[in-house]
Amino acid sequence: MPILEVENLSVSFKQYKRGLIQETSNVISSLNVSIEKGEILAVVGASGSGKSLLAHAILGILPENARMGGVIKYAGEKLTPLRQSELRGTEIALIPQSVNFLDPLMRVGAQVRTSAKKGDKAAAQKEVFERYHLKSNVEHMYPFQLSGGMARRTLLSTAMVSGASVIIADEPTPGLDPVVIAEALQSFREFADKGCAVMLITHDIESALTIADKIAVFYAGTTVEIAPVENFQGNGEALRHPYTKALWRALPQNDFIPIQGTSPHPSHLPQGCLFAPRCEMSSADCRNTRPDMRTLRNGMVRCIHAT
Ligand SMILES: Nc1ncnc2c1ncn2[C@@H]1O[C@H](COP(=O)(O)OP(=O)(O)OP(=O)(O)O)[C@@H](O)[C@H]1O
Ligand SMILES: [Mg+2]
Repeated sequence: MPILEVENLSVSFKQYKRGLIQETSNVISSLNVSIEKGEILAVVGASGSGKSLLAHAILGILPENARMGGVIKYAGEKLTPLRQSELRGTEIALIPQSVNFLDPLMRVGAQVRTSAKKGDKAAAQKEVFERYHLKSNVEHMYPFQLSGGMARRTLLSTAMVSGASVIIADEPTPGLDPVVIAEALQSFREFADKGCAVMLITHDIESALTIADKIAVFYAGTTVEIAPVENFQGNGEALRHPYTKALWRALPQNDFIPIQGTSPHPSHLPQGCLFAPRCEMSSADCRNTRPDMRTLRNGMVRCIHAT
């Protein structure tokens, strides 16, 4: 049984455009992902594709004006807002994308110690600071005294001492030096190997491939492919979706050819396949009907042409 399951998630926002004219943005639609114990799932996709909102939906911290549909399950149990608030920070820890999640009025050592739920909290904080190369005087600092990289390392520390079973890491590594990135990725791997699970949200496909077990590819608010990490090799012939193949080929060490066009705006999604306007394989069927996610080989794909 997966430790975390997201079924048919949708998130939309109603916004006033001009005067009383409302516009609905469907930022996430029919999204399915699951993570097993011991697994790292990397979530990759362009900016604005809904990755952070997925993380916030799981934790129950979507903005007030968001409407959510679908089901989120933890260890088989369907989550309610109350249950989400109980699990937040205890069973499910978030490493947020924004360092503004740190409490500006609390010294960072104390913030990390309050996140530790059992054992010797002071020892846990010191150990994790050492691991991420934060000097001992840093624990007495306030968030405004930290550099961007130090703030990120503090957020990593907070999740690592929490004792949670699932970590959702939303772009945890930008601005960190390569040694700390490697350390952070290594600690995610160790965390998963203990029987926990990690959802690693990132732009950095290459780093993700070094530690993840499977990759979920996001496009315009939904998953277009879920592939085991081994499929990312060669010319991408083992990959299923045209967008995943194009992402893979766009990497500098591959063909370095950018994908033509741009992602659709959430308030003006195409009627059929969300990728159809940019896809070389698109047919009339693709433009008319939104394809379902289907199992293909040992992965999943949302494309009628994929073989
Ligand atoms: N409070 C909000 N009100 C209206 N729209 C929002 C709100 N928050 C996010 N969105 C929209 O939802 C979409 C997805 O946002 P999200 O932050 O999940 O993207 P992302 O994939 O995490 O991007 P990035 O890689 O840049 O972090 C974007 O189009 C964004 O403009
Ligand atoms: Mg984000």
